[in-house]
Formats: sequence, C-alpha cells, structure tokens
Amino acid sequence: MKRRKFNQLAALGAAGTMISPLAFAAASPAELKASDFGKDFKWGTATAAYQIEGAHDADGKGPSVWDTFSHKKGKILDKTNGDVACDHYNRYPEDIALLKEMNFQVNRFSISWSRILPDGNGKVNQAGIDHYHKVIDKCLEIGVEPWITLYHWDLPQALEDKGGWANREVIDWFSNYVDICTKEFGGKVKNWMIFNEPTAFVGLGYLMGLHAPGHKSLKKFYKATHHVCMCQAEGGRITRRNVKDAFIGTTFSCSHIEPWRPGKDDKAVKRLDAILNRLFIEPLLGMGYPTDGWKSLKNVEKQMQPGDAEKLTFDFDFIGLQNYFRIKAKKSLFPPLIWANQVQPTKWLDKSELTDMGWEVSPEGLYKVLKQFNKYGLKNIIVTENGAAFPDKLENGRVHDPRRTQFYKDYLSNVLRAKKEGVNITGYFCWTLMDNFEWAEGYHPRFGLIHIDFETQKRTIKDTGLWFKEFLANK
Ligand code: FCB
Repeated sequence: MKRRKFNQLAALGAAGTMISPLAFAAASPAELKASDFGKDFKWGTATAAYQIEGAHDADGKGPSVWDTFSHKKGKILDKTNGDVACDHYNRYPEDIALLKEMNFQVNRFSISWSRILPDGNGKVNQAGIDHYHKVIDKCLEIGVEPWITLYHWDLPQALEDKGGWANREVIDWFSNYVDICTKEFGGKVKNWMIFNEPTAFVGLGYLMGLHAPGHKSLKKFYKATHHVCMCQAEGGRITRRNVKDAFIGTTFSCSHIEPWRPGKDDKAVKRLDAILNRLFIEPLLGMGYPTDGWKSLKNVEKQMQPGDAEKLTFDFDFIGLQNYFRIKAKKSLFPPLIWANQVQPTKWLDKSELTDMGWEVSPEGLYKVLKQFNKYGLKNIIVTENGAAFPDKLENGRVHDPRRTQFYKDYLSNVLRAKKEGVNITGYFCWTLMDNFEWAEGYHPRFGLIHIDFETQKRTIKDTGLWFKEFLANK
C-alpha cells in the first residue's frame, strides 16, 4: 500500500469530509522575469535537518523522534532512514556553494534540537553549537543569507519520552532551546522562523500516527495543538528579545479548498479549512481557535489555562506559507482515523497532472491561498516552501527535468499575479535544495534542484537548477 502525504494530511480533516484534488488550468505568461518580483524580493531554497544532515549520532548528538520512528518496522515506505541521508553534516560547504552557484541568496535550513541539547533540556552539546556556527559562517563568507527554522519536526526523543508536545512542560523546554539558539547565533543570523508546518507535525505525528512520534490519539492532538500554539508565540517573543534587528516569522502549510459538489459540501470545506488552514494562525492573531469550523476544536480550547489567551498572540514580521496541493472536499460519514489508511483521492483524478507524491499540479491553488491568507492583513508573506517530486534520471551527467521547470514557471506566475493584485509577498523559497529523505516516503520522491546519487553522494545540478541560475542572474 502506498501512503501519500496528501492523503495523510487530508485525512486529518476528514471527520465527515471527503476530499480530492482536481485540475486547474494554469496560464503561464510567455516570459517570466525575476526582476518583475522587485529588487528586494528574496529568492531561496529550503531544507530540514533530519532530511539532509545524516550523521545521526555524530559529535554528541542525541536521538530525535525521527531517528526512533524511522528505525521502527513498517513506518517508512522504502524501509530507509535518515542515518546518512545526504551527509550534509559533512558536505555543507559544497552544498552551500551549489546554492550560490544557482544564484539563490537565501539558505533556509533548520537546526536539529538534539544536536544542541542531546536530552532536549539540560546540558548543551558544544560540538552541536560549533557545527551550526560553521554552517552560518560558510553562508556569510560566500554571500548567502542564513535563515534559520528552529523546529522542523525532530523533537529530541528524551522529551518525547516525557510526553513530547502533549506535555505542557514543553513550553519551558522549547523556550530554553530557543533562548540558547537565538543568543548563540543571533549576532550573525537576523532571519528566523519558529516552526515548520505545525498542522503537519501535530496532525500526522499525534493524531494520524503516520509521522514521528507515531501517536493516534485525539486527546494528544488537542493538547499538542495548544502547546504548539503557545510555543509559537513564546518563541517569537524570545527571539525578539535576544536578536537585535531580527526579522521573525513562522510557517504554515496551506491549501485552497473547494466543495466537491457546490452547495452540498460547503460544511466539509469549512471543516477542512478550519483544520488545515486556520488552526494555528488564528490564535496567533488573537482570533482564538476556529471552533466555528469544527466544533471538536473546543477540546483544544479546554487546554487553556488562565493567562494563556494573551500569550497565544505575537506580532510576527512575516508569515511563511507552504503549498503543495489543493483540495476538493466532500461530505463523508467515515470518521478520520479509519480514513487515514483507506482513502486514495488520486484515484478519482482524471485529467490532472500528478507529481511523484500523487499530488496534483495546481498552480492557481497557490494564488488562491495567497489571496485567502492576505485577508488576515499580514505584514509580509513569504512562500517558504513550494516544489515538486518527479521521477528524475541522471543520464550522461545531466538531469533533464522539464516538468519541474514548468512547475516552477507556472507557480511563480501565480505568485506574481497575487503580488500584482496587492498581496505583500516578499520572497519565494524552493522546496528543496537537494533530493533527500522525504519522511515516511523515504528516498523515492526526488524534490531537489540538485540530484543526489545516494550511493556515491555525488551532487548534480538538475536542468531546473540551471534554469534558476539563468533566471536569477537578471534580478
Ligand atoms: C512539507 C515539509 C517538507 C517536505 C515537503 C515535501 O510539508 O515541510 O519537509 O517534506 O513537504
């Protein structure tokens, strides 16, 4: 059985809701120019520590939930793990140089919490600190801006053993970790993101059991949701306090959602929208949890303690939006936990182009979701992830990936369209710099601008990377 993250995420909102993607006709202008986005527009690539670093137990690093989860039987589709991955821990100078060669200016990467604090809390591992100083210094030396994500899903296992995100003490653990990182690196790094996609790591990790740490519990989901919302705002406050002239954001996954049958499935749309798009941003903006969309979210509200309401808010400088597919919602009688492993929405597709993840290519979906989030009146929106996996082949030293190039052209056209209509989008980061360990899918989906031969660790810039090199040469 193939598991697709689309299904997994979709299933999250599937209590009484069925979903499926569908095609958008994507109009792409004849020629797209980087200069159309403006001189100050930030162009970058994004990565996550566990997906690329490898060196899973090097230099005092403690295990994370992903080290544990990926070694359990039946959790990773191709039975692999991130022990070695792209060996970026050792090869970061070459990788950052390749990013620069493609004319990107931003290196968005994440810090592995258990390299800094092997037990999650307590003793600091100096070798972990030193490592990230070297990565940052390499970026600065060659003129690349380091943008740090503090948490991209790899909670220290020692903290999971104490209840992880479902234990309210995580607010203290996370605050301590953020305090250490921002004090340590804040003199050199000005651009920070607190979380990567809370909907994904809380939903898939605590409710669906498909990502680390693998829980299937509504109770844990409600608790973890509230604690993550508290940490999101607290992380912002700590970063503001510790880093002079910081530019601080946090990121959210988002999908445009339409009714399968207009008029009949509107409630299903509302529910999915509450879970997939609104759940983590609205409390941050002082709007509370979106219980009007899904009544069960009152159970998240129940986790609140006196004083929490104010602490949930923080005025971020930017919000990172990440988009991979759109959704068609349909009313269903199945409860979400049954859905998790049974739904194959891609089977219902006919005309749409699908990526190697089984995700529909729908460039206009990004435009629509940018317009939707613009209604919140955010200061800055940055597309902090967007990209596609296709079955690439290395042939005679080249990777011809025309579908990916077209994908980026079409999506970028829609970013530009939203920007021209007044959405304040100030940057775009590709997912991802190089092929890597795609979580529960393993190494099969290749999302990179750089091809990795996982046997030899040889790096080859794909044709799309060469396209970006030319495109970005004329900013
Ligand atoms: C996003 C994750 C990223 C990667 C892409 C394909 O949801 O943030 O790590 O897995 O999907």
